[in-house]
Amino acid sequence: MLPQCLGNFSDGLILLLLGNNSFHGMMPQSYTNGSSLRMIDVSHNQLQGQLPRSLANCVMLEYLVLSNNQFSDVFPIWLGTLPELKLLAMRHNRFKGVIGQSRTSVDFPKLRILDLSYNNFTGEIPPLFPDITVNKSTYMSIDVVYPVDGFYIVQSVAYTITLAIKGLDQNYSRILEGFAAIDISSNKFEGKIPEFIGNLTELRSLNISSNILTGSIPSSLGNLRNLESLDLSRNKLSGLIPQQLTKLTFLGSFDVSHNNLTGPIPQGTQLLTFNSTSYEGNAGLCGDPLPKKCGNQEAPQPPPSTEEDGDSGSAQTLEFDLKFCLAGIGSGFVVGVVLADVAITRRQELFLKIVGMVRLMIRKG
Ligand SMILES: *[C@@H]1O[C@H](CO)[C@@H](O)[C@H](O)[C@H]1NC(C)=O
Ligand SMILES: *[C@@H]1O[C@H](CO)[C@@H](O)[C@H](O)[C@H]1NC(C)=O
Ligand SMILES: *[C@@H]1O[C@H](CO)[C@@H](O)[C@H](O)[C@H]1NC(C)=O
Ligand SMILES: *[C@@H]1O[C@H](CO)[C@@H](O)[C@H](O)[C@H]1NC(C)=O
Ligand SMILES: *[C@@H]1O[C@H](CO)[C@@H](O)[C@H](O)[C@H]1NC(C)=O
Ligand SMILES: *[C@@H]1O[C@H](CO)[C@@H](O)[C@H](O)[C@H]1NC(C)=O
Ligand SMILES: *[C@@H]1O[C@H](CO)[C@@H](O)[C@H](O)[C@H]1NC(C)=O
Ligand SMILES: *[C@@H]1O[C@H](CO)[C@@H](O)[C@H](O)[C@H]1NC(C)=O
Ligand SMILES: *[C@@H]1O[C@H](CO)[C@@H](O)[C@H](O)[C@H]1NC(C)=O
Ligand SMILES: *[C@@H]1O[C@H](CO)[C@@H](O)[C@H](O)[C@H]1NC(C)=O
Repeated sequence: MLPQCLGNFSDGLILLLLGNNSFHGMMPQSYTNGSSLRMIDVSHNQLQGQLPRSLANCVMLEYLVLSNNQFSDVFPIWLGTLPELKLLAMRHNRFKGVIGQSRTSVDFPKLRILDLSYNNFTGEIPPLFPDITVNKSTYMSIDVVYPVDGFYIVQSVAYTITLAIKGLDQNYSRILEGFAAIDISSNKFEGKIPEFIGNLTELRSLNISSNILTGSIPSSLGNLRNLESLDLSRNKLSGLIPQQLTKLTFLGSFDVSHNNLTGPIPQGTQLLTFNSTSYEGNAGLCGDPLPKKCGNQEAPQPPPSTEEDGDSGSAQTLEFDLKFCLAGIGSGFVVGVVLADVAITRRQELFLKIVGMVRLMIRKG
């Protein structure tokens, strides 16, 4: 079990990276006001019970990874007050219930990556996202400075995360600041796909697969011009596939299979490049790439509307693939020491295994 006093150290502690161990029991409960914790990763353990409410004291927290444990709690809506929180991953736990039922507006001012997949959340998709406009091509990381024998070592610890994008679970070790993704798949969300999602124009990946969503696909999803992966499969969506989706020119992965969609597949360029498995399991769908041809009564839809097409052909066409996969060591400040797997031993019993980029600076004198 984790020592319960661990949270009390949080005045000086910046990273708490305990992932991929065999800890069980509760998470340390008391995080004091003025905590300097910026990253917490307890993923891949067997932690149980509720999340400590005092996590809301960690006002500098940017990165919270709780994935692959056995937490059973409601959604931590009280973390919405954290001004810096950018990444919240909770996949593969036993979280449940309706999100944000008790509150009308949800804050989470800087949240960019939210992974709620494989839980038991119910109710409608909550408005968890501000209209994100960060536009940085640096990688998300946290600099930690600590003294060692007259040196200061500045260690830049990169955000790392396991995400299912383009159909594969992958461990990403570099994430661009500008990256934004939502994965709420494999839950019990119901109701319609909310219109506000069409306003999250920075989204790169949206996965709402395997829920019980109804209604039609909002045509506003066509505004998500940066989207590279869209998975709406295994819901109860009905109606036509909106012609506006043909505007998603960066899509490298698209799946609307196993819904109740009808009518012709829009004959725009991008949507036809996907395998027919992306469309199967919709009895009423027809047209290429499905073998079923459309009858006469289902004439092809009119060409895409041209309103608000001003910025089409944007300069981003070179960025077709996800940009955060691999990185050279970009920073000009790097002296050039790269250590994979730096094991730092503190107080004998606590091992923090940090994979990152290390910068060395020599202290004066
Ligand atoms: C941790 O801090 C809380 C509140 O400041 C205090 O009540 C508790 O005794 C402390 N626990 C330990 C193990 O120091
Ligand atoms: C997790 O632990 C396993 C062995 O227990 C190891 O093979 C694997 O590399 C670890 N993964 C990470 C990301 O540290
Ligand atoms: C921590 O701060 C919050 C508000 O900033 C306050 O409500 C709470 O009482 C404080 N807790 C402690 C233990 O000082
Ligand atoms: C979700 O709830 C059902 C029953 O309510 C339960 O059988 C299932 O194991 C739960 N799944 C998770 C991931 O907690
Ligand atoms: C984002 O950055 C790129 C390159 O720096 C620039 O061309 C583009 O206009 C910026 N977009 C926004 C919305 O600021
Ligand atoms: C979406 O999430 C499901 C699991 O809920 C996963 O099987 C699927 O591969 C994901 N889709 C994409 C495009 O990554
Ligand atoms: C990602 O890392 C976790 C543990 O850190 C490991 O269990 C899992 O197998 C890894 N997944 C992939 C696809 O490498
Ligand atoms: C989307 O953004 C527009 C313009 O900023 C705003 O008028 C509209 O209310 C937003 N829609 C939703 C559903 O948030
Ligand atoms: C599919 O939609 C049709 C109407 O378009 C409806 O009659 C039918 O019950 C729906 N099927 C399912 C499985 O939801
Ligand atoms: C579509 O995907 C299936 C399964 O992944 C594969 O067997 C099939 O060859 C693919 N078809 C095409 C046309 O790529």
